[in-house]
Amino acid sequence: MNILIIGSGGREHTFCWKLAQSKRCNKLYVAPGNAGTASLATNLPIAVNDFEALKNAVLDHHIDLVVVGPEDPLVNGIHDFFLADSDLKNVAVIGPQKFAAQLEGSKEFAKAFMLRHGIPTAKHATFTPKTLTAGYAYLDQQTPPYVLKADGLAAGKGVLIIDNIEQAKKELHKMLIEGAFGEASKQVVIEEFLEGIELSCFVLTDGISHVVLPMAKDYKRIGEGDEGLNTGGMGAVSPVSFVTPDFEKKINEKIILPTLKGLQQDGIPYQGFIFIGLIKVGDEPKVIEYNVRMGDPETQVVLPLLQNDLGELFEAVANKTLGNHQILIDKRAAVTVVAVSGGYPQDYEKGKSIAGLETVQDSFVFHAGTVLTDNQVKTNGGRVLAVTSYGENHLEAAKQSFLELSKIRFERMYYRKDIGNDL
Ligand code: AMP
Ligand code: GLY
Repeated sequence: MNILIIGSGGREHTFCWKLAQSKRCNKLYVAPGNAGTASLATNLPIAVNDFEALKNAVLDHHIDLVVVGPEDPLVNGIHDFFLADSDLKNVAVIGPQKFAAQLEGSKEFAKAFMLRHGIPTAKHATFTPKTLTAGYAYLDQQTPPYVLKADGLAAGKGVLIIDNIEQAKKELHKMLIEGAFGEASKQVVIEEFLEGIELSCFVLTDGISHVVLPMAKDYKRIGEGDEGLNTGGMGAVSPVSFVTPDFEKKINEKIILPTLKGLQQDGIPYQGFIFIGLIKVGDEPKVIEYNVRMGDPETQVVLPLLQNDLGELFEAVANKTLGNHQILIDKRAAVTVVAVSGGYPQDYEKGKSIAGLETVQDSFVFHAGTVLTDNQVKTNGGRVLAVTSYGENHLEAAKQSFLELSKIRFERMYYRKDIGNDL
């Protein structure tokens, strides 16, 4: 198969690294990719939402299978676009159609789905500009902290957790009336605050059968001790030590199986990844959110632990024969640590030369915001790269990643040195 990966982050470099090892992969392309994917595949300078340009690339390069990395093109209907086009309809797409992508694209859609299928999640109510006053009254009945969520995609910034009731009302007004998150906050979900430890669970399905990938924990805040501003993710660990066999059974029985059964009962086709953001409240798992793609940086630890040929699994998703496959998982731990540009997640500079990449030997460097200019790898984003290592346990793996990161340099490089310490 000729395969096209859509996206340009660390997740997509990791897909690229894994698919480059596949017996089923002939030529590999990434749109738009980064300096890391350029060393394994052909980068195509096409934006992830430019469906017409992607179509031309698919036809020009005789692509058989497309892997959609980020949520945006899925929520915008890239899979539907392929199905509706007579030239593209036989090209396999890994990633759900637009209707199912609402599981990530609309918090209200996801909540209604969970409610309908008895999947444990925080209690909630949804408000629109017309029901603002009812929203205030609802907030008055809740106890702090208040959780306000923009219904639509807001680049990971649409969730507010607020201690003060007056502030919460002000923010609700901003979201619903003043368009704080544009169209995304034309509806707002107000949710019960759940106290617990978070983890990420990944399922790959062909709509009939499924496989469960290793669970992971990501580190979202910029600062050590999980303090400071939210980021796309500063590191990840897999497996997750507090997921005991008993807890895993609960996740499977109360969340994964009802989710897949719910999709079937609702007649919603699904081919691709489901990333379930979970929180462990006491001994019970509850769903914080659904995503319709893999996580970033969780992919950078999950795929290195997967021993199957990913090309074969994707082909099985496309052919709806995933039921014939058993998942094989490395027994070791994997940890990834993300290096970011100084200033991220606020303003930062790009174009800094990255040195020391060739000195990394016993770990993987997955590129995110990097670009190859004049034969030099330079920074080109907030999250620049992630270093993944294996270890007998997560502490050993993390130690190895920190050691390798100490050999990599770019101006104002920053990374958290506490990834995995809390486990
Ligand atoms: P999201 O953008 O949906 O991933 O939410 C961002 C973060 O907000 C999550 O990772 C949680 O840390 C937090 N969060 C979301 N919903 C809740 C909730 N109901 N209770 C507590 N924390 C939450
Ligand atoms: N690491 C969280 C995400 O990919 O949404």
